[in-house]
Amino acid sequence: MERVHIKASGEYDVLIGPGLLARVGEMAARAVKPCKAAVITDDTVAGLYGNAVQHSLRAAGFSPCLWAFPHGEQHKTMDTLAQALEWLCAMEISRSDLVVALGGGVPGDLAGFAAAVFGRGMRFVQVPTTLLAAVDSSVGGKTAVDLRGGKNMAGAFHQPEMVICDTDVMAALPDELIRDGSAEMLKYGILDDPALFEAMRSGAWKNEMEKTIARCVAIKRDYVMADERDMGRRQFLNLGHTFGHAVEKCSGFVLTHGQGVAIGLVMAARAAGMDAVGIESACAACGLPVTSPYPADRLASAALHDKKRRGGKITLVLPEAIGKCRLQTIDIKELPGYFARGTGETP
Ligand SMILES: NC(=O)c1ccc[n+]([C@@H]2O[C@H](COP(=O)([O-])OP(=O)(O)OC[C@H]3O[C@@H](n4cnc5c(N)ncnc54)[C@H](O)[C@@H]3O)[C@@H](O)[C@H]2O)c1
Ligand SMILES: [Zn+2]
Repeated sequence: MERVHIKASGEYDVLIGPGLLARVGEMAARAVKPCKAAVITDDTVAGLYGNAVQHSLRAAGFSPCLWAFPHGEQHKTMDTLAQALEWLCAMEISRSDLVVALGGGVPGDLAGFAAAVFGRGMRFVQVPTTLLAAVDSSVGGKTAVDLRGGKNMAGAFHQPEMVICDTDVMAALPDELIRDGSAEMLKYGILDDPALFEAMRSGAWKNEMEKTIARCVAIKRDYVMADERDMGRRQFLNLGHTFGHAVEKCSGFVLTHGQGVAIGLVMAARAAGMDAVGIESACAACGLPVTSPYPADRLASAALHDKKRRGGKITLVLPEAIGKCRLQTIDIKELPGYFARGTGETP
């Protein structure tokens, strides 16, 4: 088992290894004295792992109960949050109890937000079941729901007591969920770690899932610890995302987040004037697309509605080489030019 320790406003371990789902209770008991444990998940994950997690919690002395909402980003809403909070009330959960966020990034973000506000804040553990959740959303304490006005527009910074990631669950994921997570892993490689990038490109990472996930979590940890509230260094984690969100948005979210990010990574490299061939081949090797189906002007106008925009400025993350990126704050008037270089419409 790998362990990555995180010290932010809360201090906690991310545990990564095989068979951990059946030991969630035992692991959680290292950080939290047995109490009521309210598992919040989606219907798909409830069907796959709901019983195993509750069984394990019970065996460790917790009193589990479980609530599942319909799967999918369209349910990451204030409505679902309100239902989750009312359910916690109905179950007579108190602020000294525990929320268990079980699932991908959607249940993770929503259950984390519920834990941040229920009783003015209670403890929670993250049990990620998608690769994206394992390497990204379960770590770092950002919780949120979507508003009609934009994704993740209401939320809280609330660090978990522990993150428990079962690599057997990761190995059993459908291809599409592996591909989506791979895009974020490529991002970490481009930001900080040429060896990780190569392991993703060659596919070797699949034989070393435990180590590779731990490496990704450790990279994210370093950005989170330097800038928990996302005012500076944490912005590096947006690599590929300004471009990628625009692609996702133009597709009406038919393209997945991972597909958007992959295209965004290639566009960021081109926009920065870097030779993007290596990133293209790595994305392709991970089964991810590399070319935007949309022209630069449409993408740029979609990006102008990005919440990361501060006033008339926007900060881009631009790769210089694999393992080295820089932040560049530009005037939004310059954005269409970066998009045009990103799609290759201008050299
Ligand atoms: N908090 C953060 O820092 C952060 C970072 C990145 C992304 N996010 C958020 O994460 C969300 C995306 O996460 P996601 O891609 O995990 O979405 P998700 O939770 O919707 O999972 C994707 C799909 O996979 C299913 N699923 C989950 N686990 C499975 C398993 N083991 N086997 C089979 N199917 C499974 C789910 O039911 C769902 O239908 C977005 O809402 C995004 O905003 C948050
Ligand atoms: Zn992302």
